[in-house]
Amino acid sequence: MGRGVDDRAPDEKEPPNDPAHGRPWLRGEMLAFLLALGGGAMTGQGCAQEPARNHGLQEEVRLPEPRTSGPVSVEEAIHGRRSVRNFRTDPIDLPQVSQLLWVAQGITDGNGLRAVPSAGATYPLETYLIVGEVQTLAPGVYRYAPERHALHLLQPGDLREEMATAALGQSWIADAPITILVAAVFSRTTGRYGDRGRQYVHMEMGHAAQNVYVQAEALGLGTTMVGAFHDQALAEAAGLPSEELPLGLLPVGVPR
Ligand SMILES: Cc1cc2nc3c(=O)[nH]c(=O)nc-3n(C[C@H](O)[C@H](O)[C@H](O)COP(=O)(O)O)c2cc1C
Repeated sequence: MGRGVDDRAPDEKEPPNDPAHGRPWLRGEMLAFLLALGGGAMTGQGCAQEPARNHGLQEEVRLPEPRTSGPVSVEEAIHGRRSVRNFRTDPIDLPQVSQLLWVAQGITDGNGLRAVPSAGATYPLETYLIVGEVQTLAPGVYRYAPERHALHLLQPGDLREEMATAALGQSWIADAPITILVAAVFSRTTGRYGDRGRQYVHMEMGHAAQNVYVQAEALGLGTTMVGAFHDQALAEAAGLPSEELPLGLLPVGVPR
């Protein structure tokens, strides 16, 4: 076994490494282009207007507050869940995006603890949103920032075909309006637990994926966990930082 649970108080723990630091971000003219495409979403329409903290970023999309109750019970969502690979062309909306990212890695507690358990609260997972068709959000690859409940644009453009190609040609992935990509910085967890930490990271991916499955079902959406892909091709297509390894894709859409 590993070295056991981390019994330090949350405020004694080192903050998760933020890979956004030092990343090149959009130039002003690209922001103007995205504002034109994305409308109010790029300026946080529909959510609290807080000034951005300095992450080395200038542009972000604040997501609507996630809801903590809904009309579908956990039991019903688990019972109804199936892997869905056939999607209608309908776009999904920002409140649905907000909900799906919040269950994957959102913060649920004043001490920064998240919707998904994490060995020693080391939080090795990084969550990305590949946008094809979302109301008020331009196509592109976005990084989810749990502490802001916001999206930060990594690269604009519709990359769904590239994702499908990297996933061994699973062409149905390109039909999904969004895909959630979960990547990991293994050193955050192996740094505390040694090699055993690698297993912990994969366990955490499973927790995140199941939350997305159950939340998608409760929203009338569908998803499939995709583990078959070329790591390097996927990482390059999404523009992941070199220390991050992609662990899974979750295309989400309205079931056909
Ligand atoms: C780790 C893992 C990797 C998977 N990879 C893929 C995949 O690459 N492509 C795919 O279509 N389904 C993939 N699946 C989904 C399974 O095929 C699916 O869960 C299984 O057929 C059972 O169906 P159900 O999810 O509807 O219960 C994966 C599931 C898991 C847990």
